[in-house]
Order: sequence, then structure tokens, then C-alpha cells
Amino acid sequence: MSKENESNAKQMAKLKRKRAFAMLLEETRKEFPALAVGTASLIASSISNALLPVFLGNFYFEGQAQSSQSCSSADSQTCSSSGYDVDNIALMRLIALVVCGGLSSFLRTTCLTRVEARVTARLRRRLFHKLMGLELSHIDELVKDEDVGSFNSMLIDDTANAGKALSMTFSSIIRSAVSFLYNTYAMISISPRLCMTSVVLAPVSAAGIMALLKFKTKARAKQRALVSNAASFAEERFANLAAVKLNKRELDESEKYGDMQDEAGELDARVSVADGLFMGGIFWLTSASLAAVVYQGRKEVTMGRLSSQGLSRFVVSTFLMGLGISGVGRARSQFTSQLISAQHIHSILSLDEEKGKGDDDDAATSTAKTDEQELSNGGVLKMENIYFSYNGKDGEYVLKDLSLSLEPGRVMALVGQNGAGKSTIVSLLAGLYKPNEGSITYDGVVVSNKTTLKGRQALISVVQQEATASLFALSVMDNIKYSRPDASDEEAKEAARLANCEVFVGDLEGGYDYNIGRGGSRLSGGQRQRICLARALLANPTTLVLDEPASQLDAEGGGAVEDAVNACRESNRSLLLITHRASSLKMADSILVLDSGKIVEEKDNAEVLKRLMPDLLE
Ligand SMILES: Nc1ncnc2c1ncn2[C@@H]1O[C@H](COP(=O)(O)OP(=O)(O)OP(=O)(O)O)[C@@H](O)[C@H]1O
Ligand SMILES: [Mg+2]
Repeated sequence: MSKENESNAKQMAKLKRKRAFAMLLEETRKEFPALAVGTASLIASSISNALLPVFLGNFYFEGQAQSSQSCSSADSQTCSSSGYDVDNIALMRLIALVVCGGLSSFLRTTCLTRVEARVTARLRRRLFHKLMGLELSHIDELVKDEDVGSFNSMLIDDTANAGKALSMTFSSIIRSAVSFLYNTYAMISISPRLCMTSVVLAPVSAAGIMALLKFKTKARAKQRALVSNAASFAEERFANLAAVKLNKRELDESEKYGDMQDEAGELDARVSVADGLFMGGIFWLTSASLAAVVYQGRKEVTMGRLSSQGLSRFVVSTFLMGLGISGVGRARSQFTSQLISAQHIHSILSLDEEKGKGDDDDAATSTAKTDEQELSNGGVLKMENIYFSYNGKDGEYVLKDLSLSLEPGRVMALVGQNGAGKSTIVSLLAGLYKPNEGSITYDGVVVSNKTTLKGRQALISVVQQEATASLFALSVMDNIKYSRPDASDEEAKEAARLANCEVFVGDLEGGYDYNIGRGGSRLSGGQRQRICLARALLANPTTLVLDEPASQLDAEGGGAVEDAVNACRESNRSLLLITHRASSLKMADSILVLDSGKIVEEKDNAEVLKRLMPDLLE
């Protein structure tokens, strides 16, 4: 990498960190009351921690001073039996400090944990909402990106990590920094000369800490990517567990997952060595510092420049200062790794700002109206001069200069070889992807997934080719109502009747309340398709699109397609039917033949059928 590129990359990384920090700040600020109480308690508990050795010292030394005073005046027997006088004022101060310290620690932990939990929950909500709203093309790209890895691990681990950054971790930094500063101040005020002795090792420790932090930051980022990829791998294997078992790959897959964990574990071990070096180093440095202080301090006491009480206070402060440094170092390292998590979240949340902005307008024709506009029922659906590629690159079109027009009450069939682009047309019509060029309009209004109709009606309702991708681990009823949650049970049952679901729902345990499992795993392939069909019919769309609806349906189920065709004709809706079934093709008014993303023929039904399937029509 050239120097210029390197400095650009560094600047970019810095900018990303800044933006991620700003995002965390914005989220944390929303918890202002809890944050304010937490921060005030944090300061109070830090001060209490710093003052505790001083107050303990006062209690001890002043008690001893009184005791020696009373010893000099009383008889020696009384003196030796009591041994030590309690200074009531010092005791009261100590008790007040302990109460205040305990209370502030309680408030600090309660409030800051609450801030952490709420920031985490808010980040999760925002991230999920953002991911739900992203275009499928963005999702495709993100899934490929190794840095992003699994969405689940991002939703669980990254948000939890980032949620801590400006609450618990930041509080640890402040607490340790206060302890460090206060004890440094205490040391200077007790004996500046001894301070010189104790800080002589400071540059060595600072250089060591910086090197270890740098190593840990890099290792943590790499480890996060490894863990996230392993999570993504596991998610996919669980989703396709039957395929793993059918191909007898359980052992292979377990081994692969194990290798991924080993790699992450190895990195973890290296990070633990760095952690150990850091902690051990701090211990050595503090001990060396203490030894030097005690050695030099004894000389100072002998020369009368320092009291023995001052020396013991100095030793305690040196020790606490060392703890302060190690606390800051540890918390800073955690903060850095939490900021990496925040960067990942921010990279998704800010996606629209960097790409995809204005996509809505790109494909629109100059004459098209806005897609937010409400539409009336019964218009013409048009695709005009569509070019589309999944990766956004111009030369790799899946659809090329494709145009079609679908009028109300008409049934159009689309045929073509595997990979010709039929399902891609469906995805574009449903607004899942946007064309690179050309327009999709409904009565002149650009179609997108935001386009709305007046009343409880969808513009385009689609039954996808893969039914498993459309079904959730919910009841039959909830799956049907997914297209129109406000529909009544009667309306849903009527749609189910039209899609021939009734024949099997009656046999299910609990009927419409039967939970069908993830992707409809507790149903047969045909039953899944029928539920999808019922869902599409319930949406009462202006245009119904059925992508291979009869591929898994038996003769009775196939009748559901016939019913859908008749229902569309009667209610003046249009229907786009992708099928290879002769019985379904016969019902179409026109047939489009698609080849490598191009319409090669558009003929009336009988004429095309005769050529495609001559045996059938005879
Ligand atoms: N999400 C995707 N990302 C990249 N390429 C894709 C994606 N989906 C489909 N393709 C590619 O686009 C082309 C058209 O696929 P499409 O699914 O539209 O075909 P189809 O006509 O529906 O085929 P089939 O009859 O097998 O269902 C294929 O070459 C396929 O590899
Ligand atoms: Mg297809």
C-alpha cells in the first residue's frame, strides 16, 4: 500500500471511530437522568475510594496519638489494658465515608447498568429495524462481507458490547483515572522527593502499555471476525440440518466448526498472554516502585525529612496509583474493543447515507408520479425496457430490455428454462430489488414495496417459489394473516378454503392454531404452498403473482390455482402465472416465453401451447 493510501485508510478509520463514538454518545445521552445520577455516584464513589485509606490512617494514627497522650498521664496498668483510644470524630468521619461510599457504589452500579441495558436494547431495536428495511441487494452484499459476519452475532454480541462502552467501561476508566490522579497528588504532597523515585519507572510502563494495547486492539478485531463467521456458519448449518444429515456431513461440519473455534481460541490465548504480561508487568513495576520507595523512604525518615506515618501513607498511595494505572489500561482496552463493535453497528445504520440514497428515483421515468401516492384499483401494470443485474454491474444483466404489460382481469403465463429470469421478474415486481434501468409502473406510478392502494388491499401479492422462505414458526392462522394482520378469522378461513387448505387443516392438532414450525417444517411441501396461496389471496391484491404455485400441489391442490385464476377474472384483477404445468398454462390468456432474460415470444395461448406441447392440445 502506498503511503498516501495508507494515510487515507488511517484517516478513514479515524473518521469511522469518531462516527461510531458519536452514535454511542447520542444513544447514551437519551438516558440522561440515570446517566447523571450514575456519573454523580461514580464521582462520589471514586472520591470515597480515594479517601478511605486517608480516613483509615487518621483513625489509626490519631487514636494512637490519644492513646500515647493518655498513657503518659495515667498509671501504666490502665494504659496497657486499654492499649488504644478511639478518636470519636475520626470514627464518625470514617463511618460517614463508608456509608457514603457504599451508597454511591450501589447507585453507580444500578444506574449505569440500567443505562447499559437500555442503550443495548435501543441499538438492537435500531439495528433490527434497519436490517428489515434494507434492500435485498444490500443484504446480499453484507452477507458476503466477512467483516459483518452473522447478523445474529451483531444483534446479540456487538450491541451488548457497544452498550457497555459509555456506561460501565467509561465509568471504570474515570474511577481508575481519579484514583491514579488523586494518589499521584497525595504522593506529591507527602514527599515530592520520593515521588521522583517512584515515577522513574513510569516511561517504561507507559511504552509497554501502549504496545500491548495496540496488539490487543488488532487481535480483538480479528477474533471478533472469526467468532462472527463461526456463528454465521452454525446458523446456516442449523437452518439446513436435514441437508447436512442427508449428505452425512455431520462429522465434517462439526470438525469445521471446531477448527473455527480453535483458531479463535488460539488468538484468545495470545490475547490472554498480552493480558497476563500487562497485569504481571504492572505488578512488577508497582513492586519495584514500592521497593525503591521503601528503600529511599527509610533514608528520608532517618534524616527527619519524613515521618513514618507519612511514609506508610506514601506507600499505600503508590500501591493505589499502580492499581489506578492498571485499571485505566484494562478499561481502555475494553473500550477499544467495544468501539469496534459500535463501528460494525454504525456501518449498517449509516448504510443509506453512503449508498442506495436516491435509488427510488433512479429507475423512475420522468413522467412517473411518486410511489408514496395512493392508487386506485384496476390499473395496468407495466414493465418497460428493464435491465437488471444482481450485483449492480452493467455487463452482467439477468434481464435485458424486458417489457411487458398486464391488464386488469387478464391472466398471463410466463415460461422459460431454469435460470431464464422468471423469479427475478417476480422480485422486481414485488419491489424486492430495483431495476438498473427502465421502469415498473402501475397506472403510471412507480412500483416499489412502499406503493400503497386505497383500502385494505395490496398492489401486488406474490406466492414465492420456495414456500419455506415465506413461512414462520407461528400458527396456521397467523401465517395466513401475515399478509393482512387486521383480517378477521372468517376472512382468513375463506382464503384458506379458496386455497384448498381446509382438507388438511382439519387433521392438524389444534387446527388453525397448529404451529407449523420454522419454514413450515412440520408440514408437507404441498401444504406449505397452499398456506402461501391462502396468504396471497387474503391480501386481496390488484395483481396476483404465482411463482410455480402448482409444483408441489396434487390434483386437488392444483384446483386452488384454478380457483385463483377464476377469482382474479371475476374481480377484474390481473394474474401473472409462472408455471410449466400444462393444466395451468391452458388457463392463461397469453403466454410469454423468456430466454436468458429476454422475452422471445409473446403469443396468444392456444398458438404457443400448440408449439410448446403439441401432444397436450390434441
Ligand atoms: N440473489 C441472487 N443473486 C445473484 N444471482 C441470482 C440471484 N437469484 C438468481 N440469480 C441468478 O439470476 C438468474 C435468473 O434466476 P431466476 O431465479 O430468475 O431464474 P428462473 O427463471 O426463476 O429459474 P427457475 O425456473 O429455475 O426457477 C440465474 O442465472 C441465477 O443464477
Ligand atoms: Mg424461479
